[in-house]
Amino acid sequence: MNKLFNGIYENRRVFITGHTGFKGSWLALWLTKMGAKAAGYSLAPSTNPNHISLLNLDMESTLDTILDLESLSTAMNRFNPDIVFHLAAQPLVRYSYSHPYETYETNVMGTLNVCEAARKCKSVTAIVAITTDKVYENKEWEWGYRENDRLGGYDPYSSSKACAEILLSSYRNSFLNLNDYGSMHNILLSTVRAGNVIGGGDWSIDRLIPDIMKATAAGKPVDIRNPSSTRPWQHVLECLGGYLRVGQVLLEGRKDIADSINFGPVESDNLSVDDVCELVHTIWPQTQFDFPDNTSRLHEAGALRLDCSKARTLLDWKPLWKSARAIRLTVEWYRRFYGEKSITSENDLYEYVKDAHEGGAVWAQQF
Ligand SMILES: NC(=O)c1ccc[n+]([C@@H]2O[C@H](COP(=O)([O-])OP(=O)(O)OC[C@H]3O[C@@H](n4cnc5c(N)ncnc54)[C@H](O)[C@@H]3O)[C@@H](O)[C@H]2O)c1
Repeated sequence: MNKLFNGIYENRRVFITGHTGFKGSWLALWLTKMGAKAAGYSLAPSTNPNHISLLNLDMESTLDTILDLESLSTAMNRFNPDIVFHLAAQPLVRYSYSHPYETYETNVMGTLNVCEAARKCKSVTAIVAITTDKVYENKEWEWGYRENDRLGGYDPYSSSKACAEILLSSYRNSFLNLNDYGSMHNILLSTVRAGNVIGGGDWSIDRLIPDIMKATAAGKPVDIRNPSSTRPWQHVLECLGGYLRVGQVLLEGRKDIADSINFGPVESDNLSVDDVCELVHTIWPQTQFDFPDNTSRLHEAGALRLDCSKARTLLDWKPLWKSARAIRLTVEWYRRFYGEKSITSENDLYEYVKDAHEGGAVWAQQF
């Protein structure tokens, strides 16, 4: 896999915040398979089991909080990364209602610390900050949100990520201004926005597929909230491919990508929660669902679509797997894990890269 993304990640020093989490662990897997030297900085895994421990990767790992700027800077300066992928966050909407302070502190002050540590670390030349599709002021309309649409956020999580976007934009203007690139500083910074992501190895609370998988493994039914809500259902490898493509071109010095970029599934491929349950049931027939009235009074966004024309036009990036394929692979991952106690993450990655290569993806021309 070393030749993916123009071979840019081979022997590249990559610092990942949030490597003990769902997306961070998949990113660490992909990077190490491409021959990158990876170092992670996160809290200890919050679930048992967890994907990063199951993967057992050859990488450096610091278990500490991004709220401690000194500890974070020390870890970054010791490792001397070329690029930083910032994923560490409190990422759960419903949890953010009961823990707003922790959510804002982690997502805003934590991001501030990552920016400060990275801009003062002499080796860093690129920062990819992961936010979310929920940063947009949700108008519940049928069109996809574009990167220049108004930021907002109803719940504390979405709002904290919109705050992080504003903070990152200020850093891009104030300290990492493109006009000063190459003279006053050497860092290009992008923010990347993706939607509900699925895949094996996620045991977080209040996420649809992990909740269904955990309940099914325990032989129990699962309560389904908001069955009519539609979401983009994207395999985690899809958005990670986008993030890695952004990282590649930033490392190559492409200033036009030092901006915000959406990564979502094809717009016509949105499925309702109800559709997802039906599909999951065909793959793992032991699943049982309850649809109680009023499981929650907490506001959660209904319709949410992303317009990904910018990623398509500027990065030649497009999603590869339909939602149904992503859901199938995800459910099969958990079935295998609970049945045979083995994981298929490497196989899933290989399948994805092979499909990208055969589908003519620009980043997978050679691998
Ligand atoms: N999973 C999704 O569907 C999704 C969708 C959109 C955006 N995102 C974003 O992607 C990123 C990763 O999400 P995820 O699903 O992997 O979440 P996750 O909960 O699985 O992982 C979060 C990671 O952040 C780390 N972390 C949390 N607080 C920290 C702190 N104070 N100091 C250091 N590390 C800390 C955790 O240790 C963990 O490694 C987040 O920024 C999230 O907002 C996720």
